[in-house]
Amino acid sequence: MLAISPVDRIFVLTGAGVSAESGIPTFRGVNGLWRNYRIEEVASPHAWRRDPRLVWEFYSMRRRVAADAKPNPAHVALAKLEQRLRDRLFLCTQNVDDLHEQAGSKRVVHVHGELFRSRCDTCSRAPFHDTNTYDPPAELPQCDCGGWIRPHICWFGEMPFELDRIFRALDACTVFIAVGTSGVVEPAASFAAHVRGRAKAIYVGAEEPANASAFTECHLGKAGEMLPDLLGSF
Ligand code: OAD
Repeated sequence: MLAISPVDRIFVLTGAGVSAESGIPTFRGVNGLWRNYRIEEVASPHAWRRDPRLVWEFYSMRRRVAADAKPNPAHVALAKLEQRLRDRLFLCTQNVDDLHEQAGSKRVVHVHGELFRSRCDTCSRAPFHDTNTYDPPAELPQCDCGGWIRPHICWFGEMPFELDRIFRALDACTVFIAVGTSGVVEPAASFAAHVRGRAKAIYVGAEEPANASAFTECHLGKAGEMLPDLLGSF
């Protein structure tokens, strides 16, 4: 079990592996999403310009999968950790599902956006809660300004969200824990190297991530089985 002192500040980064046991596919595993879909056709500004209906078909499918998913013990362990540590825990997820929130986490930073939010691709209207699905041949959703409504997701080639807050929290943390992320997508892949030498860096996941050398400790196994033990939340 991880010893947490009263002055520790914990930064937790989660990836697709934390939601795998809830039935949400990862990206790069055997049945990973990027084995069946091409990123450049469904998750880039170019894809949106070329075929927005195909993009909405992909995110509608993902909305349906996520809508049926329930948090697993890893999400619950992190929600309990927030209850214990309050603002000494910073939870940053690359996941666009809402399973951390469903488990009870109140302060989740979604660096790659949120599946159940949409925004206008033209005007500055704030992103809004949206659980609809827009499969072809349904009309593309349109904003009052005439622009098209798109998923509130950080696509490849776009700027991730909340980076200022995230790097301030990385600079302040004494323990960094990454859970279920392959360590290949930037900027998150460099977070462990960013804290190296100053904070303890722990990895929890099914296999060694690509950036394993940046971690002080790697605990290999399923997040839903290992995280409750590591965080001492039963
Ligand atoms: P990946 O699919 O790249 O990696 C998932 C990781 O989770 C792998 O290292 C698996 O070994 C691990 N894993 C699988 N099942 C697990 C389990 N039950 N418990 C613990 N670990 C498990 O997903 P990410 O690293 O999250 O971005 O991907 C990062 C980004 O790439 C995503 O946010 C997405 C994708 O393209 C965008 O769409 C912008």
